Amino acid sequence: LKDRNQSGSRFSLTHPANGFQTPEKRVSAVRLPDSDYMRWGVEETCQFLLKEGLSKWVVFNDPIHGHVELHPLLIKIIDTPQFQRLRYIKQLGGIYFVFPGASHNRFEHSIGVGHLAGQLLQALNERQPELLISSRDILCVQIAGLCHDLGHGPFSHMFDGMFIPKARPDVKWKHENASVLMFDYLVTDNNLEPVMKQHGLVLPEDLDFIKEQIAGPLDTNVWPYKGRPEDKSFLYEIVANKRNGIDVDKWDYFARDCHHLGIQNNFDYHRFLKFARVCKVEGQKNICTRDKEVGNLYDMFHTRNCLHRRAYQHKVGNIIETMITEAFFKADPYIKIQGAGGKIFTLSTAIDDMEAYTKLTDHVFEQILNSSSPELAEARQILQNILRRRLYKCVGQTQPNKSMEVTRVCYTNLAQSVPQSGAQDVILQPEDFVVNVIVMDYGMKEKNPINNVRFYCKSDPTTAIQIRKSQVSKLLPERFAEQLIRVFFKKTDDRSLAAAKKHFIQWCMNNNFSKPQDGDIIAPELTPLKASWANNNEGETGEVDGIRELNHVSVNGEKAKVQLFKEEEEQ
Ligand SMILES: *[C@@H]1O[C@H](CO)[C@@H](O)[C@H](O)[C@H]1NC(C)=O
Ligand SMILES: *[C@@H]1O[C@H](CO)[C@@H](O)[C@H](O)[C@H]1NC(C)=O
Ligand SMILES: *[C@@H]1O[C@H](CO)[C@@H](O)[C@H](O)[C@H]1NC(C)=O
Ligand SMILES: *[C@@H]1O[C@H](CO)[C@@H](O)[C@H](O)[C@H]1NC(C)=O
Repeated sequence: LKDRNQSGSRFSLTHPANGFQTPEKRVSAVRLPDSDYMRWGVEETCQFLLKEGLSKWVVFNDPIHGHVELHPLLIKIIDTPQFQRLRYIKQLGGIYFVFPGASHNRFEHSIGVGHLAGQLLQALNERQPELLISSRDILCVQIAGLCHDLGHGPFSHMFDGMFIPKARPDVKWKHENASVLMFDYLVTDNNLEPVMKQHGLVLPEDLDFIKEQIAGPLDTNVWPYKGRPEDKSFLYEIVANKRNGIDVDKWDYFARDCHHLGIQNNFDYHRFLKFARVCKVEGQKNICTRDKEVGNLYDMFHTRNCLHRRAYQHKVGNIIETMITEAFFKADPYIKIQGAGGKIFTLSTAIDDMEAYTKLTDHVFEQILNSSSPELAEARQILQNILRRRLYKCVGQTQPNKSMEVTRVCYTNLAQSVPQSGAQDVILQPEDFVVNVIVMDYGMKEKNPINNVRFYCKSDPTTAIQIRKSQVSKLLPERFAEQLIRVFFKKTDDRSLAAAKKHFIQWCMNNNFSKPQDGDIIAPELTPLKASWANNNEGETGEVDGIRELNHVSVNGEKAKVQLFKEEEEQ
């Protein structure tokens, strides 16, 4: 024990059982602000180990990360009603109705993010003890990882992306807003402040730090953060990286979602962990990676886009979430949830009261389905239609010419044009159409996130450089964002549907949107009228085809490109 003290290992950083094998981590530990233990005697050390180490570290067996060991303070946070609520919120919402494996919940994802946050900091600390990463820093970043999704509502992104905008169009609300409020409520409701102090956190500074990592800066100064100084700016790039979107949250959901969806994940975060280094960039310290890893980062964003296209924005998944949203909207006034002081909230107002919100999970779906009250009849019918697979139909998908703000405008536009449609024998009604606008991007609107990543070279690991897309490959995206417009139709009889599809083609023509893929089949009399919709092979060059043949890749063009790219990178 004496040896240990002198070598300066930090007891609370690693499990005591591991601590004995890592006496070389000395530099950062000696100067820790919370290193009273340098003066501890045997008695105090034993008490500390009993309290901190031997009894309460908990091991989780996670299907993605294997055996995950978590610090006692993290366990205190997990074992609260506010955190346990995440067991009842599907990670991928309505997508579970399309992918039967996607039944995983926010609970396990949150534990995964807490774990990976610790892994990344440990890796940095081992490589660069001069960063003076303290056990407090690690705990706070892990807590932010655990708690970043506390504010998700029923069916995750359906709730903040579709339901709240529909039910409360006047509020600008995302789940992160509630994550912060819920975190505060979790701490007070469970009286965790004394426990946090006991484990070395400094309040309220560390609470600010945790919340800033979840929701961004509270302030807008030059250095906008309160919880940690600019010298530790890299700590803000771990859980939710506002600079370039490369963070442990993505690493966990890529791996976890792919596992449950049955889709191959081609991003390996273990590799990123090996190459991550903190370098100085314009007065701040950023997490950087090796120059040769740049191709893998483009792949990471490509993977994310594939997941969106194949799963998160799956057409039928979108339809089902649209229907659940409608059911919730109709049920909204009649669902009563008791909050603080006995006050009653509804589905859409529960976000204003964390006591009420704690009780709101996916179970509201079954609550509506099981109800017998007449007010809920309409909502119940919609949910029953989902179970019986009587779904709205997709009449088509198109893209606007250039990125435009299409939401409500687009909806009225489509609805108003209905009487002009060519179909005389069926009546199309505006309220039978639903317009969904989907933004697909690399996480930073039109911008290339890789431009915000800094790299270091083997010959000088301390200097951060920028790498341009043109320095990487010619087979990378030209643009980093696109919009998809999808139109659904609520009637399911063949004649109405056929008329709706033709009307949609006409609408795309009038608005200069792209030709829907099945346009020539649905409306062969209309599509030739538009010159820009002519069939030709613009944009395809012989070069690409040649390469494709050379490599004998029989999959579609996109996959072929990725394949080719990776092979080059590995050399
Ligand atoms: C949610 O957070 C965003 C960004 O911090 C803020 O602009 C917005 O006003 C918040 N919404 C509510 C309802 O508090
Ligand atoms: C709905 O009814 C089913 C079957 O009776 C039951 O298993 C389930 O717990 C009920 N759900 C709710 C939210 O009441
Ligand atoms: C569509 O494009 C044509 C010609 O390019 C233009 O005259 C027309 O105003 C455009 N329509 C809309 C709705 O933007
Ligand atoms: C789309 O926009 C481009 C340039 O902004 C323009 O040249 C083209 O005519 C537009 N296409 C249609 C169909 O309006």
